[in-house]
Amino acid sequence: MSLGGGKGGVGKTFLSSNLSAVLARSGKRVVAIDTDLEGANLHTWLGVAPPARSLADYVAGRETDVQGLPVETPIPGLKLITGTHGHLSMPQPDAETRARLLADLRGLNCDVVLIDCGAGAHPATVDYFLAGDDALIVLHPEPTSIENGYSFLRAAFYRRMELVMRKGDVRSLVREAMDQRNALGIRTPHDLLREVEAMDPEEGRRFREEMGGFRPRIVVNEVASAEDVKLGFQVRMVCRRFFGMDAEYTGYVNRDEAVREAVNLRRPVTDIRPQSDAAVYVRRIARKLLEAMP
Ligand SMILES: Nc1ncnc2c1ncn2[C@@H]1O[C@H](COP(=O)(O)OP(=O)(O)O)[C@@H](O)[C@H]1O
Ligand SMILES: [Mg+2]
Repeated sequence: MSLGGGKGGVGKTFLSSNLSAVLARSGKRVVAIDTDLEGANLHTWLGVAPPARSLADYVAGRETDVQGLPVETPIPGLKLITGTHGHLSMPQPDAETRARLLADLRGLNCDVVLIDCGAGAHPATVDYFLAGDDALIVLHPEPTSIENGYSFLRAAFYRRMELVMRKGDVRSLVREAMDQRNALGIRTPHDLLREVEAMDPEEGRRFREEMGGFRPRIVVNEVASAEDVKLGFQVRMVCRRFFGMDAEYTGYVNRDEAVREAVNLRRPVTDIRPQSDAAVYVRRIARKLLEAMP
């Protein structure tokens, strides 16, 4: 499972920490991983001191086995792979390293791997997001977050299509189309579909299938009005019209002072203030995620 959103400060790490805590408390063996190598702070939300080994060591080649990275958290059943130790900022891993990382994560002995993505739409961030069987796009009810959210979904959409296309020339076409001002005049995923179909009908069929198969989940965080709640439905509609993808609006979380209280205590809000609005809404989202799990 992955949480992304394009913009920083929208609540990805708040939700990552709390959802992983709720999933663990409901009996799942969870490993949460902080892939934000520029501002790793998931450990703080979970009350874990920066451990001796982190994802940064794996990326730098100092640690070759992912199995050695998870450390215990105060929450039974929840382990954590921290991003960096100290305040280091690390360059993103290259495509080969992150493909190996994602394959290795699948080999971890647990029920759920929860990936907290950093901000921005760096190819590494997009690949982490796409690795989730469930991919949650976290939005904040303000235009900047919506804008970054769409750019992020767009990048994820094109990257996913590139990865599933089998023929070299079609893949290059998809890569080229990713640039919004490409010379081919391809502006939307539907334009691209037409081009792919014209180039290679079999790849066209795969493209069409994949379009429908990509189902990110939408979560709106720090909701403060009924208008804010509606935002998830609007984004869902745009996803359908523009990308032909069937996103699910999985839920929203109210703006709640209890969140700040919780992070100050370095504990999940679902643990210290289980009756707060934030905790109630997080549990509701977790329930839907649990229902979708095997
Ligand atoms: N539902 C909420 N209510 C109140 N404050 C929130 C809520 N969600 C997040 N915050 C605050 O917003 C800040 C940014 O959240 P964070 O999860 O670190 O964002 P991201 O990981 O997307 O950069 C946090 O410091 C937190 O205190
Ligand atoms: Mg974060």
